[in-house]
Amino acid sequence: MRLNMKHFHKILSMQLFIIILFAASAFSQDKLSVAALSFPKGFLWGVSNSAQQVEGGLTNNSWAQWEKNGRVPPVGKATDFYNRYEEDIALAKSLHLNAFRFSIEWSRVEPQPGKFDKKEIEHYRKLIQAVRKSGMEPVVTFLHYTLPSWVLSLDAGETGADGWNNEKTADAFAAYCGRMAKEYAGLADIYLTMNEPVVDLFAGYVVGIFPPGQMGIVDMQSATHTPLVNMLTAHAKAYHAIHKADTTDADKDGVSAKVSIAHSIMALYPYPPDSKKSEDATRRFSHFWNWMFVDALTQGKLDENADEKTDAENAAWKSTLDFLGINFYNYEAVVSVRILRPVRGMPCVQNFLNLFPKGTNPFGCPPESKSVSDAPEGFYKVLTSSWERYKLPVFVTENGLVDEEGTLRPGYIVRNLVSLHRAMAAGVNIFGYLYWSLTDNYEWGLGYKMPFGLVKIDFNDTKLPRTMRNGSDVYGKIAENNGISSDLLAQYGDNKNP
Ligand code: BGC
Repeated sequence: MRLNMKHFHKILSMQLFIIILFAASAFSQDKLSVAALSFPKGFLWGVSNSAQQVEGGLTNNSWAQWEKNGRVPPVGKATDFYNRYEEDIALAKSLHLNAFRFSIEWSRVEPQPGKFDKKEIEHYRKLIQAVRKSGMEPVVTFLHYTLPSWVLSLDAGETGADGWNNEKTADAFAAYCGRMAKEYAGLADIYLTMNEPVVDLFAGYVVGIFPPGQMGIVDMQSATHTPLVNMLTAHAKAYHAIHKADTTDADKDGVSAKVSIAHSIMALYPYPPDSKKSEDATRRFSHFWNWMFVDALTQGKLDENADEKTDAENAAWKSTLDFLGINFYNYEAVVSVRILRPVRGMPCVQNFLNLFPKGTNPFGCPPESKSVSDAPEGFYKVLTSSWERYKLPVFVTENGLVDEEGTLRPGYIVRNLVSLHRAMAAGVNIFGYLYWSLTDNYEWGLGYKMPFGLVKIDFNDTKLPRTMRNGSDVYGKIAENNGISSDLLAQYGDNKNP
């Protein structure tokens, strides 16, 4: 049969119409999939990183000194974020994220006491501007573990104490935070003075795997007392310095500065489960790790050994958190170890157990013990118990998983977000969630072996190529929809872990 032109046009336009209909429905299904669990308007979806782990080229801080002494694997160029932040911000944007957390490296902007480096201040200004320009809320951390080298040699008189053992560190820190908040007042509103102070305290002054490498496991309270008090004071002073310096409401939400810490909170359970001693150790360790620091910043009183008595107090510490930043990674067994004072116990965190020869189990941890990271029920408990205790708005400032292939991460994210949603439904005020991390990066004492990234980086290739890792689109879809679709729930929502 011969088609005439009229027929031909008719068939062609019918076909075109069908194709367009098809494409439109596929597009709308993907883009506008109705969220089965939706989040409040303006909820922050983002990613976190830290200077030492991504920037490269840091030579003037406590970790660089450790690297020189051969205590940790070399950092080298890291991910070269210092030069490639625009590229990484674009990657975050391509996942529809609206928040980006990074840290300012103190040793760059203030390489010598009181001498600020204009060029470096401009560098971070450009970085914050780039985050803002791409429609994301900057979340600024002032200290992610690394102290400038000069802070380590601040005069401490006869005590000769350095770093957090020296009370002068608190004043120096507050002055630096205040100066930065003034510089970036018109660009940033959300500030974290320090990342995981209790991790820094425990790893640096109890088990010696972070600088300054002090071992104080047998009498943790004495080992940590001075650095702990100085960290609390440093935060409190910085809190007031930041509020004084930043009175500009950069994101026009009616608040010029919100200040907190990023605090590691673990879900803990006694092992063996029916032992009174391990229950007691769990209560004590949980007090030390999860609550002690934040209790002091809310009440102005510090109870270091969970005996409900005040060991130190300072009115200036009180009410210095505008919200609570929570980093959640672990669901851990706690075993009773009577000789370890005052907690009388030890969590079975793998990093700490790695201190002992392979195959040995000095504390009687569960044989299969390895940090359980996919623990949505533990996450729920952490969110609800923090809220019950403090009634402070919660910002999840870190949550993430090591997963090279990208097969586990989507389920991990979905299940944790289901828990987060459930906590919100139960009344917990949560205003954002940041995944750790946008890209693979340097993992402290472990080097480049821990692929946490939504984006994979090939560290064997000098060009450090970035590729979106499998499964990362799942987080992107959630951020885009501001909710979790029923498809994602059906695929990943199953709550298999404790
Ligand atoms: C820290 C990060 C670290 C992450 C993964 C958090 O405790 O803030 O710096 O990379 O955990 O281990």
